[in-house]
Amino acid sequence: MQHDAVTTRIARNAGALSLPDPGQIFLHEKAVHVWILDEHAIGQACSSLAYTLSQDERQHARAYRHESDRNNFIARRSMLRWLIGVYLRSKPESLSFDVTRFGKPALQWPRGTRLAFNVSHTDGIAVLAFALNCRVGIDVERRIDCIDLMSVARGIFSPVEESALAMARTDPAATFLGIWTRKEALLKALGSGFLVEPTSYTTEDASALGEGRWHASKKGTRMSGWTCLDLGLGPEVQGALAVSLDDAHVTLCRCSPSVWLND
Ligand SMILES: CC(C)(COP(=O)(O)OP(=O)(O)OC[C@H]1O[C@@H](n2cnc3c(N)ncnc32)[C@H](O)[C@@H]1OP(=O)(O)O)[C@@H](O)C(=O)NCCC(=O)NCCS
Repeated sequence: MQHDAVTTRIARNAGALSLPDPGQIFLHEKAVHVWILDEHAIGQACSSLAYTLSQDERQHARAYRHESDRNNFIARRSMLRWLIGVYLRSKPESLSFDVTRFGKPALQWPRGTRLAFNVSHTDGIAVLAFALNCRVGIDVERRIDCIDLMSVARGIFSPVEESALAMARTDPAATFLGIWTRKEALLKALGSGFLVEPTSYTTEDASALGEGRWHASKKGTRMSGWTCLDLGLGPEVQGALAVSLDDAHVTLCRCSPSVWLND
């Protein structure tokens, strides 16, 4: 196991990560696994898995000015490597990544796999989603109060979403965060991020389909064949998942200081 300066510095602050047994992790058709790394797991992943990062990724990590941002990057990238390694039965350090022209990471090696993945992070938390033969997008955001919600929404929210925000009386910040995370998850699944016209997509509650479910439409036409879900990740943190599979089965895989749990 090699340790460079980045790894060694972080290792001082964290204990060893208790990883689940790879032999118990299987991704079936129609299944989506969402892995949640909280603050403790971020520190632990840094110390245990940073050795899997490529030279480019180590250089990328060093460029972060704040240690917490650097740790979050190292943790989510090394967990991404570890989990892809588990799903594909490959060594995490043997994987290589490329990015699409919109910046979405894709596997360069091994090429042509059926595994789809996406990653998101915010202060103190990272989430990673995996599924087979589909497009998947995930977003997580921490609640921010004291911003002019309507002006941030302008140019991003569709007219339907803007009016839902305007009508939110009890907790407009929560309504804003819900719409924002849904939209970002969808646009990340599509691979464009906000480089397309975000206002042409609308996300709306679909609670008749189940708790936390929502659906998306493009220019007024419902996008069928998708499973879209809010992820309640805590009082201050909201997440959303969009996956181009009908009736996908979503499992949240949480980790606490040294225990991995499947919800
Ligand atoms: C993609 C985008 C929505 C991410 O928003 P964000 O809130 O800053 O970041 P998140 O934490 O949710 O997601 C970051 C992760 O998304 C992934 N990602 C990057 N671009 C992506 C894209 N176009 N589609 C899907 N996922 C993408 C990466 O894995 C990244 O993780 P990393 O930093 O560990 O590599 C936003 O950056 C965007 O719309 N970008 C437009 C595309 C762009 O400007 N590309 C520049 C290079 S061409």
